[in-house]
Amino acid sequence: MAQPTYTTHLGMVDILPDEVRKWQFLENLIHKEAEKFNFEEIRTPIMEQTELIVRGLGQMTDIVSKEIFAFSRGDDNYVLRPELTAPVVRSYVENHLDQRGGSQKLYYMGPMFRAERPQKGRQRQFHQFGVEVIGSSDAVADVEVIAFMIHIFKKVGITNTTLKLNSIGDPESRKNYIEALKNHLKPNFEKLSEISKKRFEKNPLRILDSKEDEDQPFIENAPVITDFLNEDSLNHYKKVKEYLDDLDIDYTEDPYLVRGMDYYTQTAFELISPDLGAQDALAGGGRYDLLVEEIGGQPTPAVGFAAGMERLLIACEELGIKLGTEKKVDVYIVTLGDEARKWGLSKLPELRNSEISATMDYMGRSMKAQMKDANRENASYALIVGGNELAEGKFTLRNMKESEENSLSFEEVLNKLTP
Ligand code: HAM
Repeated sequence: MAQPTYTTHLGMVDILPDEVRKWQFLENLIHKEAEKFNFEEIRTPIMEQTELIVRGLGQMTDIVSKEIFAFSRGDDNYVLRPELTAPVVRSYVENHLDQRGGSQKLYYMGPMFRAERPQKGRQRQFHQFGVEVIGSSDAVADVEVIAFMIHIFKKVGITNTTLKLNSIGDPESRKNYIEALKNHLKPNFEKLSEISKKRFEKNPLRILDSKEDEDQPFIENAPVITDFLNEDSLNHYKKVKEYLDDLDIDYTEDPYLVRGMDYYTQTAFELISPDLGAQDALAGGGRYDLLVEEIGGQPTPAVGFAAGMERLLIACEELGIKLGTEKKVDVYIVTLGDEARKWGLSKLPELRNSEISATMDYMGRSMKAQMKDANRENASYALIVGGNELAEGKFTLRNMKESEENSLSFEEVLNKLTP
């Protein structure tokens, strides 16, 4: 095939009709299940102010320092949203959602943008669904968020997952821990990878997330943050674990789990799948009790997660889980001659208004080619119309699967096919 003149950008993919059916199935499922959890959908713009993302996620994070798509126009700085926690919090503050009362239980889905090196399960435009519960410091909120995340994966049939859990404490706990971590790493500073050396002063927690071989011996022996939690943080973490136990949600504690954004406090978690290869995180989240205040709101605790929709679909593929239904149409009107064609076109609305999906040939093809096309379109019935049928007011309705034909008036066709 000839090379196309124009292609998508690196790491950005078209989702073609056969694939879209799976997406629609997944999106419908998320809407339905979110309603059961009493979460409400929120939709925010694709672009935000660069400052919001820098301030919200942290200057030294990989996302902000290397991966954002940002540009300016006039005096304004725009960024394609790399995630939705900071934008949802911005919207919460800007629109005074606290005035609706109670905690805001919000969910979302849509495209995010990160200029990462593409590989399987890692794209530059990808999609997340997620939840943000803003206004509650109770461990019940943490656990409901985790329960919803796992519920969705279970609903689609992905059960072979590991929930990794940690607490990174409040700022006081973290300050003490960071000091201990730096004291532990300092004697071997020269042996650390270049990237970890850079992080040592500015973001030492992220060293724990390093994939570099030379860092591993020092990470393995590093002090663990859970030993540095103050009473409040420890109590919150205990409650989260207790409630998870009550709900029979299994988890593996991972004291080195630190997440990629600076806004996290207390609970941090990730859902991992063995079916995904290198990019094995299906979802991740945690508490961010200081973010609302950080971006200009009242001090307001919050917790949430986001899941990668492409990764969910890859896991389904690997596990042989079929999402969605096959392409199909109820009736294909097959016509012979101009009069029949006009009649067919005029009957399409009546069929559709009776909740019957209907189509016909748009290409002036022969009757034989139209029958073939009806098969390709996976039509349940072909309604065959020629001059004789028009004169008699009786049409041939062919059941395509059973190869059975009946001669019926159009009224009778409608009666038979109306669901
Ligand atoms: P995150 O861990 O950066 O968290 O992303 C969540 C999920 O999005 C990942 O577990 C992964 O499945 C998917 N994902 C991330 N980057 C890519 C990519 N380049 N290609 C494909 N999938 C990707 C957040 O975004 C936080 N906002 C989650 C959160 C919500 N925390 C609190 N509330």
